[in-house]
Amino acid sequence: MAHCVEDSSRYTYEEYKQTADWLLSKTEHRPAVAIVCGSGLGALGELLKDQMAFNYSDIPNFPHSTVPGHAGRLIFGNLNGKPCVCMQGRFHSYEGYPLWKVTFPIRVFRLIGVETLIVTNAAGGLNQDYKVGDIMVIMDHINMPGFAGQNPLIGPNEERFGPRFPPMSDAYDKDLRKLALAIGQELGFSEKIREGVYCSLGGPNFETIAECRFLSSLGTDAVGMSTVPEVIVARHCGLRVLGMSLITNKAVMDYNSEATANHEEVLQAGKDSAKYLEKLVTLLIQRIELNNNVF
Ligand code: HPA
Repeated sequence: MAHCVEDSSRYTYEEYKQTADWLLSKTEHRPAVAIVCGSGLGALGELLKDQMAFNYSDIPNFPHSTVPGHAGRLIFGNLNGKPCVCMQGRFHSYEGYPLWKVTFPIRVFRLIGVETLIVTNAAGGLNQDYKVGDIMVIMDHINMPGFAGQNPLIGPNEERFGPRFPPMSDAYDKDLRKLALAIGQELGFSEKIREGVYCSLGGPNFETIAECRFLSSLGTDAVGMSTVPEVIVARHCGLRVLGMSLITNKAVMDYNSEATANHEEVLQAGKDSAKYLEKLVTLLIQRIELNNNVF
């Protein structure tokens, strides 16, 4: 089989397994749900009861998080009585990580028995109806780097995780989306809950005005720099996925605007509105039906 230079540096199945086994040997928690906390949303992890936390730097093979607002801890614990594992801080390709490294934890989650992945992120609102603080339940995504050949599944396929050509038309679980919308209503903030299309870009710069207009014309409702690689790898290995974007800023679409996006604004909006997302996720976890089919 032909080899490219990068192949030799990819994780082997045994390395995913080694990390999974290490975690299983260090904790008695057996989570069925994994939560990835986006920028400024790490407080979700603090809600877990009976916590056991690991710094990424202490976990074999784990990459390290380098972004302010991303703590870099993997927290096991119970949320509303359900065993969960929470990534407080994720990895992004703009940090210099190849996508197979960005998505490493997802396959580890699969190997420790996780069935459902809840991914959250901070995103810029392109849909003109969206307000800062809204929560967008992701119904679909556009993998913009994928158009240019950037995909976490590139390279030899590992059949033990999933098929060579996985579908993505059903990436975001319909029942979980419905549940999230219903819970938003039940909690009395349905006016904050949207459903829309998320587009990921490589970052780290925020978008130009022309790029925002372009993305909007494609049907994008919110734009960010994460999530899609994790979702692709999660779907490849059969996890159920729910994605939610906290709209932390309105994307600049107008040449007369003086506004510019910045990371501090993103973190502040996260602080101001994270409580809604936290309430939503907490109740959702309680209601999720689990099969407990350990991989
Ligand atoms: N663009 C890209 N990523 C983001 C944004 C944005 O406007 N806001 C938060 N993350």
